[in-house]
Amino acid sequence: MVSVLKRPRFFHDNIVSMQDLTRKDIEIVLKLAKKFEKMSKVQKSRLLKGKRILTLFLEPSTRTRLSFEAAALNLGAQILSVSDSKSSSFSKGETLEDTVKICSMYSDLIVLREPDSTNLGFVLNSSTVPIINAGNGFDEHPTQALTDLFTIQKRFGRLTGLNIAFVGDLKFGRTVHSLSFALGKFPRNNFFLVSPKGLEMPKNFLKELDKTIEFSKHSTLNGLISKLDVLYMTRLQRERFKSKSDYKKFEKSFTLKKEMLNCAKKSLTIMHPLPRVEELPKDLDLTKHAYYFEQASFAIFVREALLFLLLKKRNGR
Ligand code: NCD
Repeated sequence: MVSVLKRPRFFHDNIVSMQDLTRKDIEIVLKLAKKFEKMSKVQKSRLLKGKRILTLFLEPSTRTRLSFEAAALNLGAQILSVSDSKSSSFSKGETLEDTVKICSMYSDLIVLREPDSTNLGFVLNSSTVPIINAGNGFDEHPTQALTDLFTIQKRFGRLTGLNIAFVGDLKFGRTVHSLSFALGKFPRNNFFLVSPKGLEMPKNFLKELDKTIEFSKHSTLNGLISKLDVLYMTRLQRERFKSKSDYKKFEKSFTLKKEMLNCAKKSLTIMHPLPRVEELPKDLDLTKHAYYFEQASFAIFVREALLFLLLKKRNGR
C-alpha cells in the first residue's frame, strides 16, 4: 500500500501500512514488546483497564485475532468481537465505512481485518478511534511484520546484514509485503524473492523495495539455501484466486523438503506466518531450523506493545 497517511506518532494513531513506520518507530515497538515479554501477567494486568478493544474480522483468522484479544485481556482491557463477516451486517450489504463508524462508537480501538486490498484511507476517516490493520486483502499485514521482526531479533540479536529468502505466493501473501518493507528499513539486508512464475511480488511493491534494498528474483530455491539466514515460507493464498483451476496449477510447487536443508547454515531459521499447508511438511518441525511456533508465540508481546502505545498517552506525546 502506498500510504497517504501521516507517520504514526502512536498515541491515538492508526497502524495501516509498514510504510508509515520509520526504523525508530519500529524500534520503539520492539523495545516495549521485549519489556512486556519479561513482565508478569499481574504487573501488566491493569495497564489498559477501562479500555475496550473491538476486533472486527471480516476474514478468517486464528492467531491474529486471538493474540490481539489475549494481549488486550493481559493488559486489563475488555473485548468486543466480530469474528465472522456472516455474523455482522456487512453480509447484508452494509458498507465498511458504516460498519467501522458504528464500531468506533462502541470502543476505544478497532483491530480490523477485511478482504479488500484497496487503500484503507476512506475507512479511517469514518472512525473516531484508532484502527490497526490486521490484514487488508492481499495488500499488507503490518502487525505480523512487527512480530516477524521481533522473532528475527530474538534469534539473531539484530535486524541488519541478513540474507533472507521469501518463498511462495509473493503475489497475494500480504505478510511478505509488509515484512519486506520493514526489513528494508534496516541496512545491509539482502532478499531472495522465490516464487513460481505468476506469483511474483507485485510491481508496485518491487518499485518501493528497489529504493532501499538489494534483491534478486528466483523461481526455485536451488543454490540459495546455503547462503540463507532466514527462510520465510508462505502458503498458496487459495482464497485469493478467481477459480480452482487457477490455483491448482501452483499446488505443491514450492514444498520445502527436509533433505533440501542438508547444506544449510546451522543458524538457518525457518519462519512462517501460519497457517501452513503443503509447503512446510511436519517433519521439519523437529529440525533445529524450525522457529515458526515460537514466532506465533511472540505475537502476543508485540500486540500488547501496540495496544499500549496507541491507547496510553505518555509524556511528550
Ligand atoms: C497470515 C494472514 O492472514 O495473512 N496469517 C497470519 O495472520 N498469521 C498468513 C496467511 O493467511 O497465509
